[in-house]
Amino acid sequence: MAARCSPGTRFFKTLLSCRTGGPGQYRTPGLCEQQLRCRFSSLPSPPPPGTWSQLHRLPHRDLYRLSVTDPDRFWGSAAVDRLRWMRPFHQVRDCDFSSGKINWFVGGKINVSVNCLDVHAENHPDRVALIWERDEPGTEVKVTYRELLETTCRLANTLKSHEIKKGDRVAIYMPVSPIAVAAMLACARIGAVHTMVFAGFSSEALAAKIQDAQCKAVITCNQGVRGGRLIHLKSTVDAAVRSCTSIQHIFVSQRTEQPVVMGELDVPLDEMMSQHASVCPPEPLDSEDSLFLLYTSGSTGKPKGIVHTQAGYLLYTSMTHQYVFDYRDGDVFGCVADVGWITGHSYVVYGPLCNGATTVLFESTPVYPDPGRYWEMVERLRINQFYSTPTALRLLLKYDDCWVKKYDRSSLRTLGSVGEPINHEAWHWFHSVVGEGRCPLVDTWWQTETGGICIAPHPLEEGAPIIPAMAMRPFFGIQPVLMGEKGETLTGDSVSGALCISQPWPGMARSIYGDHQRFIDAYFKVYHGYYFTGDGAHRSEDGYYQITGRMDDVINVSGHRLGTAEIEDALDEHPAVPETAVIGIPHDIKGEVPFAFVVLKEDVGDDPTAILQHLRGLVANKITKYAVPEHFLVVKRLPKTRSGKIMRRILRKVVLETTNDLGDVSTLDDPSVVKEIVETYELYR
Ligand code: PRX
Repeated sequence: MAARCSPGTRFFKTLLSCRTGGPGQYRTPGLCEQQLRCRFSSLPSPPPPGTWSQLHRLPHRDLYRLSVTDPDRFWGSAAVDRLRWMRPFHQVRDCDFSSGKINWFVGGKINVSVNCLDVHAENHPDRVALIWERDEPGTEVKVTYRELLETTCRLANTLKSHEIKKGDRVAIYMPVSPIAVAAMLACARIGAVHTMVFAGFSSEALAAKIQDAQCKAVITCNQGVRGGRLIHLKSTVDAAVRSCTSIQHIFVSQRTEQPVVMGELDVPLDEMMSQHASVCPPEPLDSEDSLFLLYTSGSTGKPKGIVHTQAGYLLYTSMTHQYVFDYRDGDVFGCVADVGWITGHSYVVYGPLCNGATTVLFESTPVYPDPGRYWEMVERLRINQFYSTPTALRLLLKYDDCWVKKYDRSSLRTLGSVGEPINHEAWHWFHSVVGEGRCPLVDTWWQTETGGICIAPHPLEEGAPIIPAMAMRPFFGIQPVLMGEKGETLTGDSVSGALCISQPWPGMARSIYGDHQRFIDAYFKVYHGYYFTGDGAHRSEDGYYQITGRMDDVINVSGHRLGTAEIEDALDEHPAVPETAVIGIPHDIKGEVPFAFVVLKEDVGDDPTAILQHLRGLVANKITKYAVPEHFLVVKRLPKTRSGKIMRRILRKVVLETTNDLGDVSTLDDPSVVKEIVETYELYR
């Protein structure tokens, strides 16, 4: 049916004149005003501009209620007022979990780099956007919004001149640095889809991601510098691209003086950028065009390329950044994550830059050159919010408190933790020693797939308590649901179950690259019509959420997510190894470490030392060093069900020495295997 033409609504009139026409704002060629009105007049309209500036004054509690009772009004008004659009959206959301359809701000055109750079370069060009805290303390480099915009444009023009265009995938394999941020934003500017690969991943792991995403180019550095050591990134890229036919260019920036031999595909990035203009018109992108892919581990061996899109992700990360950390204009935000992980994407780059913050890029380690590094940096850079991981905190609390106390931490206002459950000791040390008991400490729960923080205390809500070591409360728009063993919704408080989320939110992932069915199966089928997180949680008697850990075969080593199947796949490549089973076991500092049970072929002899050494190398080469199992136990066989499925639950009980409580073993093919493995383990111990 043809859309009925009606006189333009005030909403569109205002939007068209205010949001897309003003100085420095970009107007998309394409549909004229009349056409836009005709096309959208029959659809529900988002709230008019200005609504959010009224709404956001509501008490936090009322805002949360609005966000779940009237998401269109809540998110629509926030999106209109907080983001700069090139064309207004006509519908706030169009989602259906059961078919994995997630669309936000439908019909809108936007450019994320404009919102992260141009908007601020117009308003405060000399405000510092990035403080690059380089490996050697005291050598930090500051980059203003104007400079970052110019660098981004030069890099974007360089990409364009090498025929990288909208929709092309570009791998970024770089250490934490302004050029890495510019590379992300340059892709965003021209509509290319970046896929950052953490610069600690091996060449094989990098190659697997490049192949899956069919990347056209890689952006890298000659070397990285971390903890006083050099990391040879370019040679890892060279080894990776040998098996990647899709790669047409390798852009190489110089982090150190060390020259690199340039091959046929190599482009000297810094030199090229200096030849290109510092202005690059931003590509108008659909709200739902892809912004980036980020690979993460699941319960099968093949990592998943999680797809995030433009407007919803940007809005969600910028709002969580502001509300969860009590970010205020002019603050220096210190998130020490690597940009290669989702935390770096959302809370080093996109969220803070969209809010016009000064964001810290931390290149070093918590103990370089000594265990006072973080706190010396807090004093020197006057950091207001400090966001770290339980692993780093557990490592640091082992040292004398004088490493903290000798530095002035009075600038700190909010502390945050992410990536894994934070234990009470680490929480209290962070809160009372680092924060002197005066800074709210927020334990933030979220995932690569959620795009931004979903459950965290509300430091801005008046009178709201913060319970130690607990993520506690859903963010705006998040409706957590706990599911029981039979798939039933658990109502009431004091219950534990599988953590699901019942309604879509703007920051959530949209797909798994190249495999939408896997996206549906992994997240929306387990509990039909709900997003399943893979985590378990407890809802306390006060209605607060406590995350209890993964319910699948995913483990968390120093806050890095790993699929046990990925490690098993690497181990199984050894010709003498017919079978393995990997589980995660608790570790004092790293949270969890992999423990590998290995079955060897009968003819390999009595001393497996050489094979085990080879296995360590296999995992380091195929994945990364931190995936190498801390423990190996050679066993004759593995506990299996009659249908051949390995019962890892039993292996966990063997290592935790709780085999007196094995649970249901009726499906075990041969129960005597338990005794056999317990005996082998006792000898190993
Ligand atoms: O198990 C949860 C754990 O980390 C997983 C997500 O890992 P990743 O996608 O790599 O993202 C990490 C950074 C957001 C979750 O499924 N996790 C994350 N934060 C917490 C957590 N577990 C407990 N408490 C947290 N605060």
